[in-house]
Amino acid sequence: MVLRLVYSSISSDMGPNSSKLQQLREILASAQKHNGQNNVTGFLVFDGTTFLQILEGERKDVIETYDRIKMDKRHKDVNLFEMSDIEERQFADWHMGGSMRTLEAQEIYLSHGIGQVINPNTLSAAKIVALALDLQSYEQERREAI
Ligand SMILES: Cc1cc2nc3c(=O)[nH]c(=O)nc-3n(C[C@H](O)[C@H](O)[C@H](O)COP(=O)(O)O)c2cc1C
Repeated sequence: MVLRLVYSSISSDMGPNSSKLQQLREILASAQKHNGQNNVTGFLVFDGTTFLQILEGERKDVIETYDRIKMDKRHKDVNLFEMSDIEERQFADWHMGGSMRTLEAQEIYLSHGIGQVINPNTLSAAKIVALALDLQSYEQERREAI
């Protein structure tokens, strides 16, 4: 059993679109450093405004990580959707995978009923996990294609 935590937040960086991918890369770099040590896995979705994140691992590690993330000034309006025990990790290959929303990935969002912007109020933990699983497959295929 591992703990799975799902939350959403809003980026505090109102900078130009060009720096959004850079912002995601920087966050993933600091996340991966810690998550590798704590064996926390998961996935981070970013559309330039909203973050959706799934954290998986031992209860203590996930809660410690979430407590640290909540304090981060790079985002605000952190909203916890779910903390639940799951049988096994669903993002086991990533000490934090990430996916930046692009036009190419648009169809995946639309197939999950997410339009132009991610509205956390219309989401649930189950919907976020389903979206992230599809984006995980998409990113894995893309990486293999390069
Ligand atoms: C949206 C978002 C997601 C993050 N995800 C993680 C994460 O999964 N693991 C982690 O350790 N830090 C994560 N961070 C970064 C932490 O908030 C914090 O900056 C970092 O753990 C501190 O590391 P450093 O000071 O060594 O760079 C995230 C930050 C943001 C804004």
